[in-house]
Amino acid sequence: MTIGICNDHAGVDYKNSLVQYLRNKGYEVVNFGTDTPDSIDYPEVAHPLADALLAGKIDLGIAMCGTGNGMALCLNHHKGIRAGIAWNPEVGRLVKAHNKANVLVMPARFISYPEVEAIVDQWLTAPFEGGRHQRRIDAIEP
Ligand code: RB5
Repeated sequence: MTIGICNDHAGVDYKNSLVQYLRNKGYEVVNFGTDTPDSIDYPEVAHPLADALLAGKIDLGIAMCGTGNGMALCLNHHKGIRAGIAWNPEVGRLVKAHNKANVLVMPARFISYPEVEAIVDQWLTAPFEGGRHQRRIDAIEP
């Protein structure tokens, strides 16, 4: 399983720790994010991650910015991307179980690093529940 990660300056510290965490668990990780605290614009890194996911170069994505909103707004412009924001482990589970998010977005400035790992664990391991949730996903496209 290959996971792509992208982050702006607000998510750089958590990204570095999370890349190591995921590699230690055996995941391949591709880094699309910035590696310095210098300010960047989140679309610069969100669009390449979306393109890679849609091209099958990565299997899932994780994105972090200050609130999560910039990343989610960018990513969800791409048909086929379902980017959902999670701010605690239960929402991390639900964003997979109910929303089948193929990109997990987290608000780096509003959660602790231990919460990041707990959210990612829930999202990676939760099964999509299908059924009424698939019907709702199918109805998203207007
Ligand atoms: C950067 O200051 C901040 O605007 C960005 O990380 C994100 O929160 C935008 O949605």
